[in-house]
Parts: sequence; structure tokens; C-alpha cells
Amino acid sequence: LSVLKSAARLHQITAKGPSHVTKRAKPRKAEGSTVQRRSMRLQRMQPPEVPQVEAAVQEEEYPQVPAGPLPMAVDGQEESSDTALLGTWLRLSEMNSKDAEKPTCDMKRYQAALSSMLLREDGIRKVVSSRVCSVAIHPSESAVLVAAGDKYGHVGLWDVSCRTEGGAHIFTPHNLSVNCMRFSPSHPAQLLSLSHDSLRCGDVSRAVFDEICRSEDSLSSFDFLEDGACTAIVGLWGGTVAVVDRRTPGTSPELSADIGFKVTRTVDVHPVDKQYFLAAGSVDVRVYDVRWLRRSGNKAVSTLHGHTKSVASAYFSPTSGHRVVTVCADDKLRVYDTSSLSATSALLSTVRHNNNTGRWLTRFRAVWDPKQERCFVVGSMARPRQIEVFQDTGELLHAFCNPECLGSVCSINAFHPTRNVLVGGNSSGRLHVFME
Ligand SMILES: *[C@@H]1O[C@H](CO)[C@@H](O)[C@H](O)[C@H]1NC(C)=O
Ligand SMILES: *[C@@H]1O[C@H](CO)[C@@H](O)[C@H](O)[C@H]1NC(C)=O
Ligand SMILES: *[C@@H]1O[C@H](CO)[C@@H](O)[C@H](O)[C@H]1NC(C)=O
Repeated sequence: LSVLKSAARLHQITAKGPSHVTKRAKPRKAEGSTVQRRSMRLQRMQPPEVPQVEAAVQEEEYPQVPAGPLPMAVDGQEESSDTALLGTWLRLSEMNSKDAEKPTCDMKRYQAALSSMLLREDGIRKVVSSRVCSVAIHPSESAVLVAAGDKYGHVGLWDVSCRTEGGAHIFTPHNLSVNCMRFSPSHPAQLLSLSHDSLRCGDVSRAVFDEICRSEDSLSSFDFLEDGACTAIVGLWGGTVAVVDRRTPGTSPELSADIGFKVTRTVDVHPVDKQYFLAAGSVDVRVYDVRWLRRSGNKAVSTLHGHTKSVASAYFSPTSGHRVVTVCADDKLRVYDTSSLSATSALLSTVRHNNNTGRWLTRFRAVWDPKQERCFVVGSMARPRQIEVFQDTGELLHAFCNPECLGSVCSINAFHPTRNVLVGGNSSGRLHVFME
């Protein structure tokens, strides 16, 4: 049965593949920055022997990136500000961050902190060339280094603290949209990025984008199974999930498991009990135990009922994992109590939230503030344009707004893990950074 199922799925995917590519290649006026591939070689850091990438990449088209490791630095021109940017990333990653201030549990104080975070003109920049599909913030506290992934395989890196013209650069490590990115928690010199084609690890200390996993089925998302970022759980658009171990040779997953989903859109690992992960897809949101995963016949540890249309995302709350927030196409945000992880997790609150992002915007994902066990951030269709922060009770705590500087919907947002910094990305590759 499962053979038939996967054959049907394979057929679906191969039938969908090419038309999908040509249909989506919408011509878009290049806004300012073109993809530049100038010298990025770090001093005394020769990139390994890897194939050269085609120089000029048309912004409107999906790039054709070869498989295997890619240099983070191409061509041999002289040193530039890009070198400085990579140097900054490396330096920030080697610094031990001091113990951050304990986050406040007092909602009034938290609201005050949110109100003190402002968007200024120099906090806006086009960092990738098209629609932002993912963002990640480097954990360093001494500078704000943000990464954005876009629809056309690009990864942009921006040192927000750098006030000069430089301070940002675009890489092209993928062929298709970069839907998920995370800095490695214990080695933030590594930025892992996932696109339909592959999961890569951009390692600035070696100036290379390694290939960690590739699959014939398209990848949708990933999360680390431990802080060392050696193992990860990967979600696939075909519904399965895969376990990946970077230490084993080759780029195929260790295990591919059918969890009975039509689509797996996001996966997220429990922050404390790392054997549990959450998968969200068509209307299903379920928690599984990675230790029990088999090729097929997998049973969920807990099910989060109630979604009537497709689910865009589901994430565990950051410190205890006792809450899960989901975004669903039925125009609702839902918060569940997952403190006991019983067979059915109870629904705690529901927020009506227009999610009608339409064709040209990335779907909203509600993500927790890593400093706040009970608060999450989500994009909004409301005018004036804003980014909203809710408490798990469903109460709106704050709307980040600035009619002069924020004139568009930010679908993809992320808070800094320890500082009061929020970054939001819009559908033309612009990042907006709110900070104290
Ligand atoms: C990108 O596409 C090309 C051509 O379709 C393919 O050969 C290559 O393997 C793809 N790259 C990745 C990283 O999947
Ligand atoms: C929510 O948004 C999705 C697209 O993002 C749309 O298909 C759906 O109809 C919306 N929900 C409602 C209730 O309109
Ligand atoms: C993205 O944001 C920038 C700056 O805020 C704005 O100029 C641009 O029009 C926005 N893009 C879209 C598609 O709304």
C-alpha cells in the first residue's frame, strides 16, 4: 500500500515539477541591487576545490545551482566590503555571549519593551532580490546580523549595525525558494538553509555552503534535534519527515518516515524533550517521538484538533514547550496546551486573524519570541501596515507600526533570542528591523 502511495506521490511531484517552475517565473522589475558576485574571500581562507557558479544570475529566473558544496566566495577580485561582512560574521560567532538579562515575565514591562523598539530609516534594507520566505537572526548580542532567504534561492546577509554602503551581500546557494533558515545554536558560524532542492550549511569559517541533505521529494522545513546541530528532522512537501545526521557521509537521510500527512509544511522540535517534534501540514498538526519513528505505521503522541483548512505553521513555545501556536487558512490563530502531551492537546485560545495573503505574499507564520514563553509575533493584513504580538491568551499585546517607514505586509518575522530586536521581511526582499 505504501509503495503505491509513494509511487502516486512521486508521479504527482514529477508531473507538477517543471510547469511549477515556468509558471512561477514572474518577471519582476529589478529594484536597485543586482546579484553581485564580487570577491568575498576571507584572508587566508582559501575556499575548498569546488565548482564555480555562473556569474550573472537573472533575478527573474530560478538559478541553476550545481549539487555538492559551493564556495561562499566566488571569483578572484580584490578584497571588498563583502569580505568585511564575512569577517564580522566569523568574529561574532567566536565571541562568547555574556549571560543575557533575565527576560521579564511581567506583561506590562514586556509591553513597554516592545513599545521602545522602533523602526528607523536605516533599519530598512533590501537584502534579497525577491519575496522573503525565511529570516534568521544571529545570536550575537554585540551586533545585529540578520539573514533572509527568498523565493529564488538567494540568501542575503546584512550587518544592521554597519552604517556604510557595504554590510550586506547576496549568496545563491539554492535553486528554489529558501523556506527555512536557522543559525546553529552552538556554532553560529554556521547558517543552515533549506530549499525544495536541498538543506545546506553555510559555514563562514570554511567559506563554503556544504550540502547536508537532498531528496527527490521536495523539502519544506527543518529543525535541529540537539543544540550541536548535527542531527535534524526535515519535513517534506510530500508529507513524510526525514531524520538527517550530518556526520554520516552522503546526502541521503538516515530515515524517511510516513506520518500519514498529505503535506508537511513545518516541523519543530520540543525545546526541552528533544525526542518530540511537531509536524503541521494540510489540516493535521501532531506531535511524534523521533525515537519511535519507522518507515510507516507511525502513531502520534498527541494530536492538535480543530483546523478546518490548511495549516501554515505550528511551533512549540520556546522555553517549556507547554504551548503550541498554529496559523490556519481558516483565518484563525490557535494556541494549544501541550504541557502534558496527552493523546489530544487542549485548545486554549483562538484569535480571528485575516490570513488572506493571496498569491504574491508568503503565508503568515506565527513564531514565539524566544525570550517570552507566552508571546508570539505574526504578520498582519491590517492597515496601517503592522506586525502583531499576541499573548497565548489571545490578547493583542502590541502592534509594531510606523506609517512612514512600514508600508507593506511583513509575512515573515523573527525576534532576536536575547535582545529587543525584531526583523520583518516583505514580498520584495526588504527587511525591517525594529530595535531599541
Ligand atoms: C539545480 O537545478 C539543476 C538543473 O535542474 C540541477 O542539476 C541541480 O542539481 C540543482 N541544484 C540543487 C542544489 O538541487
Ligand atoms: C485564509 O487565507 C487563505 C490563503 O492564504 C485563503 O485561501 C483562505 O480562503 C483564507 N481564509 C478565509 C476564511 O477566507
Ligand atoms: C517592501 O518594503 C519596502 C520598504 O518599506 C517598500 O518600498 C516596498 O514597496 C515593499 N514591497 C512590497 C511588495 O510591498
